[in-house]
Amino acid sequence: MKIKVAVLTISDSCAEGSREDVSGQTIIDMLPVETFEVCEKKIVADDHEEIVSVLKSFSDEQSIDVVLTTGGTGLGPRDVTPEATASVCERMAPGFSEILRVEGFRKTSKAILSRGVAGMRKNSLIVNLPGSPKAVRECLEIILDVIPHAVKMIRGGGH
Ligand code: MTE
Repeated sequence: MKIKVAVLTISDSCAEGSREDVSGQTIIDMLPVETFEVCEKKIVADDHEEIVSVLKSFSDEQSIDVVLTTGGTGLGPRDVTPEATASVCERMAPGFSEILRVEGFRKTSKAILSRGVAGMRKNSLIVNLPGSPKAVRECLEIILDVIPHAVKMIRGGGH
């Protein structure tokens, strides 16, 4: 059974159509089709309520295994992705965000500016990635290998 993935781009400019969603597509392009099935790709503005609502629908209604978000993790006044994500998660999985900042820092010190979090709601693992296509590539590469094992554990499959 393939892992069901939803990709969520969180960006005011992509949502209003003034910028192309390269980062969301980058995520999709990096997921091996033998293992992952991308069931949803959505774009929302940097709006807490909108983010919460779409994350809940991925988890509660669509039983998505893995939600990968991109954008809205920084220090700007509109960057609310981490708070919205944490508010829907029942349990956090901080290892993902910890390694993204530590490994990211080896490439750019700006990696510490991402406040991204990761956690679980029901059977869905939600991981925040930063917004730029470069950051998405660097970050997803780090965690991609462990995702199938994480999904297995969330489904109750043990280690
Ligand atoms: N992490 C990696 N690995 N590579 C990057 O280029 N960019 C950083 C950071 N994390 C970056 C990274 C920058 S410049 C910012 S501002 C933060 O992610 C937050 O980005 P976001 O607000 O678009 O989510």
